[in-house]
Amino acid sequence: MSKQRQQQNFVHQVIGHHPESNPKLTAVKRSGKGIAPVNIALSKYWGKRDEVLNLPMNGSVSISLPGLGTETTIQIAQAGQDSVRLNGKLLEPSNPFVKRLSHFLNPFRTATVFFDVVTTNTVPTAAGLASSASGYAALVLALDDLFAWQLASQQLSLLARLGSGSASRSLFSGFSIWHMGRQADGMDSFAEPIDTPWPGLCVGLVKVDVAQKPISSTLGMQNTVNNCDLYQAWPKQAEKDMAKILQAIQQQDFNLLGQTAEHNALSMHATMMATWPPIVYWQPESVAAMQTVWQLREQGIAVYFTMDAGPNLKLLFPETEKPAIKQAFPELSIIEPFKTKR
Ligand code: PMV
Repeated sequence: MSKQRQQQNFVHQVIGHHPESNPKLTAVKRSGKGIAPVNIALSKYWGKRDEVLNLPMNGSVSISLPGLGTETTIQIAQAGQDSVRLNGKLLEPSNPFVKRLSHFLNPFRTATVFFDVVTTNTVPTAAGLASSASGYAALVLALDDLFAWQLASQQLSLLARLGSGSASRSLFSGFSIWHMGRQADGMDSFAEPIDTPWPGLCVGLVKVDVAQKPISSTLGMQNTVNNCDLYQAWPKQAEKDMAKILQAIQQQDFNLLGQTAEHNALSMHATMMATWPPIVYWQPESVAAMQTVWQLREQGIAVYFTMDAGPNLKLLFPETEKPAIKQAFPELSIIEPFKTKR
């Protein structure tokens, strides 16, 4: 079966679309709208076991950042092609962002239907701040609104996963868990919220570079899975770390959370660096920021970091440490996921 066909079957299964008995691909409104937050994985997803259905080698746990994310509207286009406006700018049809989005939309239409998509990010695109996660989650919510499917969050998560794995976790606020799933059809690989708030938890964004990343996460994962001997150890560690993060959340044990998240991120980056050709997202300023974090810890300050497929660091610390952290990182943007209004 072709890749396109497989994705189409998956989408139709999730939305319950049967062309004759239960058509689900007719726009019910003039336009649909969706808003979703970015999320930061505390225990990360790196590596696909199925590239067509975006099925991960391991589960992951994340925290969503309220106020940072994507707002998207979608409507049926009058013109004979898709149009995408990103942050106020109409993109060329040849732009890779447009191509990826159009490809994602294919299972949701017949050959003669095109979409106008208007999407606004409050995070820089492809800066390692996971704008693709909030982007595909917002797009799926906009489709759900346009077609009036009223899908449950589990179904929305399955659809968002197809756009970007981490998008499966961006349908929720607070902590989320993305189950790796075992089924070949991908129907058991979705995210759901973890209903435990952590009021004093802070996330700090250390912006090292917001330019486009040198290698996409999809390509990076593919190279790591295929060309890195150390990768074999990754899925096992990821599962163990995930259990520790869940325990830390239940017990509100900050040191366990921070230690596990930092170790998990560094282990993921170690597999990237041990790939040939090597994948290094870090910049000198990333390492300098890590050293500052380690110095702060030596001084008894509770702070840890995590990093995704980019040079920026995300700090984790309890609110009691805010003054010390602000002094060490004067430019830091601080988000309080359980206090900031969503
Ligand atoms: O969902 P993707 O393809 O953008 O991959 C995300 C990969 C990491 O951000 C590095 C880890 C994660 O779990 O979010």
